[in-house]
Amino acid sequence: MGDPKAYMRHVLYVDPDGDFVITAITWLPGQVSPVHGHQVWCAFGVAEGELTEEQFDADLRVLKTTRLRPGEIADQDLHGKAIHRVANRGGAPLVSLHLYGVAAERLTTGINRVYR
Ligand SMILES: [Fe+2]
Repeated sequence: MGDPKAYMRHVLYVDPDGDFVITAITWLPGQVSPVHGHQVWCAFGVAEGELTEEQFDADLRVLKTTRLRPGEIADQDLHGKAIHRVANRGGAPLVSLHLYGVAAERLTTGINRVYR
């Protein structure tokens, strides 16, 4: 599980009407997302391992750092306003589950706004 090069997104379910997708993301210890926002609504939680989420304000100052364990759900971003960075800062692999309000054909380009 996991790719040593980078965290990996796996599509688990595609809504036939194109309203959302469910993905699992696998993270090895130390793997970190860019600082990003979303173009669409997003909700996520942890299936396995420990996830660290940092939330930022518009000037990219850290507002809040949260650790999530299996079964826990992060703050939802229903209006595409949040800016965050997600990481596996634990010592074991992490699997997180993400719902995005995007059609499958826009999965690679239609979700994230990357800040750095
Ligand atoms: Fe995100």
